[in-house]
Amino acid sequence: MKIAFVGKGGSGKTTLSSLFIRHLAAARVPVIAVDADINQHLAAALGMDEAEAAALPALGARLPLVKDYLRGTNPRIASAETMIKTTPPGEGSRLLRVVEDNPVYAACARPVLLEGEPVRLMATGPFAESDLGVACYHSKTGAVELCLNHLVDGREEYVVVDMTAGADSFASGMFTRFDLTFLVAEPTRKGVAVYRQYKDYARDYGIALKVVGNKVQGPDDAAFLADEVGEDLLLTVGDSAWVRAMEKGRPRRFDLLEADQRQALKELHAAADETYEQRDWERYTRQMVHFHLKNAESWANAKTGADLAAQVDPAFVLAEPSGAPQPA
Ligand SMILES: Nc1ncnc2c1ncn2[C@@H]1O[C@H](COP(=O)(O)OP(=O)(O)OP(=O)(O)O)[C@@H](O)[C@H]1O
Ligand SMILES: [Mg+2]
Repeated sequence: MKIAFVGKGGSGKTTLSSLFIRHLAAARVPVIAVDADINQHLAAALGMDEAEAAALPALGARLPLVKDYLRGTNPRIASAETMIKTTPPGEGSRLLRVVEDNPVYAACARPVLLEGEPVRLMATGPFAESDLGVACYHSKTGAVELCLNHLVDGREEYVVVDMTAGADSFASGMFTRFDLTFLVAEPTRKGVAVYRQYKDYARDYGIALKVVGNKVQGPDDAAFLADEVGEDLLLTVGDSAWVRAMEKGRPRRFDLLEADQRQALKELHAAADETYEQRDWERYTRQMVHFHLKNAESWANAKTGADLAAQVDPAFVLAEPSGAPQPA
């Protein structure tokens, strides 16, 4: 299950995704944590110290390796250089599974111990000085999109992505890559405005979107969100002393998280699981092809000097493997 946390800057995307990841680890289900924000905060929220977090490999910097692995023997992808963030898998491509060892995880993921479980953490990588003003900095966040498009995750396997604030994800197909998107909104006009913008984009692509109200301080806040968001409002979360202690560098044991927050995490988990029935791998594949063709026409054909539409394998549908996972 591919789950994203999106929302306005500072709304609590990193906080809530880190809590959700801890909850899944505590529930003993496989989970991969992905920091897709160029401002990297997820590692710290998961309890990594500064030195460990700084030593995390940047997915964006390892794109050639990722591309070479994923393209495998796909004859439609001539080289890693012509493979772009939206290049879809086809016959011969290598796919990723949540539970396996592979060279992509070996190079790009690091374990973080949560509730006694080693959880893989992957990070897009920080925004380098040299990226500023360069259009292809999108290729950094593109590494996550590429991985998601090659990932065959099953029921009760989770990939949780802490997304970048703002509209960056609409420039690519990234926002369509999830079984469920949690939009974190504070009870403010700005928080709700981001929800409306997201909803508009999401509608055309049939995106499953649920609003998680955060920093909700009382009935008035909750009523405001209920008014503005209607039935898309899944639940609201209040201020958490546990989170504040964490922010002070005095982390508490996860089982001391407030009962309300724990209940909220269970509901997020249930909401994610419910979307499994709506899964449609054909649609998923169709949408990745759609965004690939869009990218090919708008910049990538010109950049690579090739017709990247030819990378699409018309007969291929991404789908869960029916047998047991193969060793890499
Ligand atoms: N429920 C909560 N209770 C207490 N503090 C919270 C809660 N949610 C978020 N915060 C605090 O609000 C601040 C912003 O949260 P967070 O970093 O998770 O937001 P974000 O959406 O990831 O921000 P950015 O857009 O910068 O990535 C942090 O200091 C965090 O500790
Ligand atoms: Mg954040």
